[in-house]
Amino acid sequence: MALIFDSHAHYDDQQFDEDREELLRTLKENGVGAILNMSSDYASIKKTVDLVEKYDFIYGAVGIHPENADEYNEEVRNEIIEILKGDKFKAVGEVGLDYYWESNPPKEVQIGVLRDQYEIAKSLGMPIILHDRESHEDILRIAKEYEGVVSVFHSYSGSVEMAREIMKIGGYIGVSGVLTFKNARKLPEVVKEVPLERLLIETDAPYMAPVPYRGKRNRSDYLMGVAEKIAEIKEITVEEVLHATAENMTRLLSL
Ligand code: NI
Repeated sequence: MALIFDSHAHYDDQQFDEDREELLRTLKENGVGAILNMSSDYASIKKTVDLVEKYDFIYGAVGIHPENADEYNEEVRNEIIEILKGDKFKAVGEVGLDYYWESNPPKEVQIGVLRDQYEIAKSLGMPIILHDRESHEDILRIAKEYEGVVSVFHSYSGSVEMAREIMKIGGYIGVSGVLTFKNARKLPEVVKEVPLERLLIETDAPYMAPVPYRGKRNRSDYLMGVAEKIAEIKEITVEEVLHATAENMTRLLSL
């Protein structure tokens, strides 16, 4: 059986504080071959660095999430660049736009911070992992401006039409546990439309656990449920889904 490559997880999250070590060991036993851990705020950058150093199968993405755009400044920027020069740090992320929460920094601030982190990805020749919540139009426009940077739309929530636009600029679609939810309407259509070579599977752990674990703390071995659903939609085997999505990550991160 091919190994699972979890393209997006937050194992630095405090929900894992109690049993992180044991859990990560179990994941390896359960067929998880690699994980790309995302930082989200300044504190989680440090925690991601610790995880990457400690575990051979964890790679790191470093960046500031739109919710925390206020934390971004020249000093943080320089620190991000320095960390990304390290061996197992392979992407800028999790960055993006989030217009859902009113308490988030203003749009202009979020956009400025996103653009600046696109500049980092561009200068380092790295992919960027995008969080896009109710901001489809703006984020797609910016991604198109930076066509030389490979954009990954994590936990994809857009339309089939938008997915086609993302394919045109060489982007990837991250498929989360949402695919297994009964009320998932657009995502199955997107999975059907997008070529297997452009799909990634992701937990977004500890969030977004797939059925039958919905609402529970998510973990990378639960991704089998997402892989099974993709296999069903695309009428291929689970093995093919796991193999292709892991290869996509290997290519994306130049591993
Ligand atoms: Ni995330």
